[in-house]
Amino acid sequence: MNALKMPTYMNSPIAINDFLVHESVQDIITEILTGLSAAPKYISSRFFYDSTGSALFEEITGLPEYYLTRTERAILKEAAPRIVNSSLIKNIVELGSGDCSKISILLDAIPDRNFEETAYIPVDINKTSIIKSAEMVSKKYPGIRIHGVLADFIKHFKAIPDDENKLICFFGSTFGNLSRTQEIPFLLNLKLWMNPGDQLLIGFDMVKDIKILEKAYNDEQGKTAAFNKNMLNVVNRYVKTNFDPDQFDHYSFYNIADARIEMHLKALVNIEVTSPHINSKIFLKEGETIHSENSHKYDSGHIHRLAEISGLQIKEIYTDMNQWFSLVHFQL
Ligand code: AVJ
Repeated sequence: MNALKMPTYMNSPIAINDFLVHESVQDIITEILTGLSAAPKYISSRFFYDSTGSALFEEITGLPEYYLTRTERAILKEAAPRIVNSSLIKNIVELGSGDCSKISILLDAIPDRNFEETAYIPVDINKTSIIKSAEMVSKKYPGIRIHGVLADFIKHFKAIPDDENKLICFFGSTFGNLSRTQEIPFLLNLKLWMNPGDQLLIGFDMVKDIKILEKAYNDEQGKTAAFNKNMLNVVNRYVKTNFDPDQFDHYSFYNIADARIEMHLKALVNIEVTSPHINSKIFLKEGETIHSENSHKYDSGHIHRLAEISGLQIKEIYTDMNQWFSLVHFQL
């Protein structure tokens, strides 16, 4: 572990600990080229989030079709008092710290607005995201202790400090990006990290009318299309390929059998791509696709099975009146 630096932002000391086992650029290049040589081709959804991609995602969360963010926020607003009063909470951990709007809803529910006893622990793979959310929270909640953690919480869980009286938050249905085989190992890692009394909140997007699901990933303004295609710019930078995003269509649909939205990039013409890292070209036939994301959807049976297999207890399931989204409160 390296203590990076302990700067002072807005009178609130923010410490960031770096637990990232930094990947070499060569590993990233190999990962991308492996996916592009597979049949069918794929690129991991983690390559969406450069600064352009992160900004586009933030725009997506405000779209009328993208019900997820606002629905989860409304659920959280109603549930927050019960959640913060359910046990002594000193450390609020946010996995994948986005903007501070969701954590603010929880912090606003803390009685007497006494933050001297509270710490906010944003955990993210991206240092800029941690600093951004840390700054916003320290400004809004004077006196709160902030301890950022730079880590890939999917891979290196045990590296995160072992604080007691934690409330761990994993909002946004980011859980849905996990493959079905990653779900239980992920929950077991969380469970190993939890102490008696610790609480866990996970947001799940629920199975619903296919038209509603598909519209959320095919918005009229084309923001999701831009977000999907931007991944090719990210790949071009890493692998020095010459993908032209305009030669691809955004293609997304609900896969009923696997209960997930799939996003793909579909070649509009025959395409040849070169990279200095490989001798042969990458060929795409007109109509061929690159799989860029799975976004799984859940039903209550699946959520209960996850709890049962992982040995986590469901304390409460909070949902909206349409049951479009669920915020599940787990404990040991
Ligand atoms: C951030 C992974 C939860 O799957 O809904 C939004 C990403 N992809 N539109 C999701 C996303 C297309 C989002 N997650």
